[in-house]
Amino acid sequence: MPEAAFAAWRARIEAALDAALPAAASAPQGLHAAMRHGVLNGGKRMRPLLAYATGNAFGAEVASLDAAAVAVELVHCYSLVHDDLPAMDDDALRRGQPTVHVAFDEATAILAGDALQSLAFEVLARAPQEPDRRVAMLAELAQASGAAGMCGGQALDIDATGKWGQSRLSLAKGDSDPTFLERLHALKTGALLRASVRLGAIAAGADEASRATLDRYADALGLAFQIRDDLLDIEGDAATLGKTAGKDVEQDKATFPALLGIEASRARLAELGEVMDQALAALQADTAALAALGRRVIERDR
Ligand code: IPE
Ligand code: IPE
Ligand code: MG
Ligand code: MG
Ligand code: MG
Repeated sequence: MPEAAFAAWRARIEAALDAALPAAASAPQGLHAAMRHGVLNGGKRMRPLLAYATGNAFGAEVASLDAAAVAVELVHCYSLVHDDLPAMDDDALRRGQPTVHVAFDEATAILAGDALQSLAFEVLARAPQEPDRRVAMLAELAQASGAAGMCGGQALDIDATGKWGQSRLSLAKGDSDPTFLERLHALKTGALLRASVRLGAIAAGADEASRATLDRYADALGLAFQIRDDLLDIEGDAATLGKTAGKDVEQDKATFPALLGIEASRARLAELGEVMDQALAALQADTAALAALGRRVIERDR
């Protein structure tokens, strides 16, 4: 059953993203084309799937979840456009295509990211939920995107880049490194994945206790997602990943394999899978789709 639901939700999110984005033919055409390039290019749509799966598990109508799903994917796509800029990871390939600053130019990529972020909040502000819920959803996405979430994590990532090998050596006997790295990953990647689940839960009006349990699932999923991303950067190839492999070692990025090694990183992934299963088992809801997404995060090859 989850696979059929995933196909339906994927078709829905592609259509909803297309409809939310400005038309390529209208001015300013370069900006609009860059926004569309950064979004409509074959992402896995993991965050929308999480929002749909959570909302669905707690009884929300699918149409009431579109705004949340679109908003979180737009923030994610903006984060990728900026993550790939020369001032950040300096990547030329994303989702199998030239990155936005390569296909257009840097100024356009910066503006496209900015405009995608603004569009995300506009879409969410027009969500069909009653005003209190809508405001709670806006606050949720804002917190997850900003200094206390994705941007904060990206700042920790950039600060650690190129100094990671060095700081790891100086802290070789300390235990603060895993804590630091878990925090970095929880912010830069975990925050938006967690927000995807929380937006679905708020949209559906899930109760407090269920939301706390969903947080445990989502926090494990967020960390697992980035550990898998770090492993794929080492073990994957550009044709499958749709992005250049081997960049993390080259740029001395703060990653789990760099800190713990490949085997221990894989073991951590398996542990996080158990945390997800335990959390889902505690919920009084049909969690088959959320369980399948958890497995996908751990086993994915792109
Ligand atoms: C890539 O995210 C960036 C990270 C947060 C690790 P995804 O792996 O979800 O990328 P797309 O959206 O499928 O391209
Ligand atoms: C990116 O992490 C996280 C965000 C975009 C917030 P990475 O830099 O590892 O993502 P990829 O590998 O470029 O997709
Ligand atoms: Mg990065
Ligand atoms: Mg990157
Ligand atoms: Mg990466």
